[in-house]
Amino acid sequence: MAASNFSEVVGSASSSKKLINLLRGHVSFPSLPPAPLLLLAALGPLWPNTSLLPTRLIEKGTRRVLQDPSIAFPALLYAPDNGDLKLRQNLASWLTDFYQPAAPISDERIAVTGGASQNLANLLQVFTDPVYTRNVWIVAPAYMLAFRIFDDSGLKLRAVPEDEQGIDIKYLRSEIRKTEDRAQAQSNSSEPIKPQRPWSKFYRHVIYAVPTFSNPSFKTMTRKRREQLVGLAREYDALIITDDVYDFLQWPSSLTAKDVSLDKAILPRIVDVDRYHDGGAEREGADGFGNSVSNGSFSKIAGPGLRTGWCEGTSKLVYGVSQTGSSRSGGAPSQIAATFLAEMLASGDLQRHVYEVLQPSYGRRYRKMVTVIEKELIPLGARLPQTDRDIVGGYFIWLTLPSGIESTAVVQRAKEEENVVVAQGEIFEVPGDTEHAGTHFENDIRMCFAWEDEDALAEGIERLARVIRTLQSEQQDRGAQSAQSATQHGTTVASAKDFW
Ligand SMILES: Cc1ncc(COP(=O)(O)O)c(C=O)c1O
Repeated sequence: MAASNFSEVVGSASSSKKLINLLRGHVSFPSLPPAPLLLLAALGPLWPNTSLLPTRLIEKGTRRVLQDPSIAFPALLYAPDNGDLKLRQNLASWLTDFYQPAAPISDERIAVTGGASQNLANLLQVFTDPVYTRNVWIVAPAYMLAFRIFDDSGLKLRAVPEDEQGIDIKYLRSEIRKTEDRAQAQSNSSEPIKPQRPWSKFYRHVIYAVPTFSNPSFKTMTRKRREQLVGLAREYDALIITDDVYDFLQWPSSLTAKDVSLDKAILPRIVDVDRYHDGGAEREGADGFGNSVSNGSFSKIAGPGLRTGWCEGTSKLVYGVSQTGSSRSGGAPSQIAATFLAEMLASGDLQRHVYEVLQPSYGRRYRKMVTVIEKELIPLGARLPQTDRDIVGGYFIWLTLPSGIESTAVVQRAKEEENVVVAQGEIFEVPGDTEHAGTHFENDIRMCFAWEDEDALAEGIERLARVIRTLQSEQQDRGAQSAQSATQHGTTVASAKDFW
């Protein structure tokens, strides 16, 4: 039922097989655009299966707000600049409990936002300048819908590859250094074109990452890399913006994993590292804004239609966010949704929904998919990242295809022959910066297990395996044919050994 409205657009129009959508996206074209564009548009942000939306809990929260005029009237009027106080307080206490920082998180470190994407735009408005800010460094493969948000702010995009530990710090350091050296050689101090404001500052660089259960790479950045990244950001006056939107959606990677507590985060966020590492934002010589900000969201744990999130950083930086022009005009966004969510957190309903419904459901979905991947795809030569983790999470799995198999062919043939849709790795490349190793993803696909009906996930992988097997046997046939024709023409075919 879930995917049926979309079959005519994202799936095969002629297939007799039921569409299996491991891509999940929303399409709203009045007429069909060309195929590559269609795929991009179809991707959209990720959606949860509708059976996982906490409709009744939201209704309960809504009633609590609307039946009590002392809550309902402020809820229906303009918000404070930094958002509903009860939501900020309840969030502060849940985040403290989940991330377990050395000292409690105060509500002054939190502002209510219109979700992670809306707040990414706000952060760029307040803390970057299109001339002064040299680059935004994006961990690749990247959440592709962020690209336009960076574009809107006039920033120059650069890609930074990941390895098995997360962001490639060495590469990032050397590229930032080169940028700085070039600017110095040209005596380019790049004075800001925007006015300086007492509540904000302009950072020289922005670094954008999804450090935990990343969209799309599915990787988690190690603690060491998080610390190194904070150190680098301080050195080069960079603001690290992290979308920490999947952190709560975690489960054991295998059924036999022991001693895992899923109501605690596996690692500190980068914003937590920045708070304490080497004296934090209050260390000698620092300006108090800090070098990181965390974007949280209710989209993945309650419902994207609520369009509400939060950001956390130093109280100085968060005050700056609350002074964005649009928030000074009528206060923080999403005020009424914020009051519903405050009630859901105060009663513990939302936390229980996360721990008792979402984590087990997504864990089950994940395991169904990964079990078939291990049985059908790994023997063909496909690879999964970071296979040694005890806890995994998020919405999807990133798969490197067997060597010689390109994602373009897999995506196209899977759609035409098996009516199964997956996301092609190239969609997650940073536009204009794909030359360096690890920034081009022609052999990768991303598969989402959050949207499609649970029963269809295993079949989706089986269909995909059929496609890959067919492509591999076609590849072998072509190899055999060209060997034969080379022999007929009196030449020998070189093997890899000939080059050793
Ligand atoms: C990394 C990342 N950031 C942001 C978002 C969107 O979050 P929000 O709905 O809070 O704007 C998504 C959703 O797919 C995401 O994967």
